[in-house]
Amino acid sequence: MDTWTVTILLHYLLCASLVQSAPVGLPSNLPPAFRETAVEAKTLSEKILKDISAAHTATVKDFSLDSSSQMSNLQMMAVSMGIPSSPVLKVLSEHFTLDMCVSRMLAGVQMYQNLLEVLSSRASGLEDLKADLRDLLNHINKLTEAQLGADYSDQNPISDLDSHLQDSYSVQVAVHMTLTQLRSFCHDLNRTFRVLITYRP
Ligand SMILES: *[C@@H]1O[C@H](CO)[C@@H](O)[C@H](O)[C@H]1NC(C)=O
Repeated sequence: MDTWTVTILLHYLLCASLVQSAPVGLPSNLPPAFRETAVEAKTLSEKILKDISAAHTATVKDFSLDSSSQMSNLQMMAVSMGIPSSPVLKVLSEHFTLDMCVSRMLAGVQMYQNLLEVLSSRASGLEDLKADLRDLLNHINKLTEAQLGADYSDQNPISDLDSHLQDSYSVQVAVHMTLTQLRSFCHDLNRTFRVLITYRP
């Protein structure tokens, strides 16, 4: 494991140990615009889930999106290629606040945008997904404006993925793993937006 992977692991362990069960930590004064934007963002995350299947079919011939065979092998390859894990979206609580949640959503979408930017220079069929993610990023940015004052510029470390894409097999693995992780992240987003939408003070 490289230093960066270790840092990420420690970070997750630390976060996990801080989380205890607690009531949902949403502020009671969310403006109506927040909810509207969350509804639109949820629709987008569901659209992305559909587009991931299409993009995968168009791009990856060697693996199927739903096959779990070789998964641990492919996961190790993804790490060694510089594909980071998704930010973890926990259940909202006093230890995992709305601010933390929105900033992790933002970091995750930015991370996948960066990865797809690299991958789309090596494989075709990812354009729709890139456009969807750009839309989603705009919506999440609006959520931060409606509620939070902090600066959420892209904090993701620069990935060196491009230097690992030596042949078409490595491109296939990288696209497959990126889309697999993105799908699971979008399921988390769909679940989280649902909580934000259904919340009533
Ligand atoms: C997204 O969440 C809704 C519930 O709000 C659920 O019915 C739907 O199946 C989810 N979409 C996907 C693609 O998982």
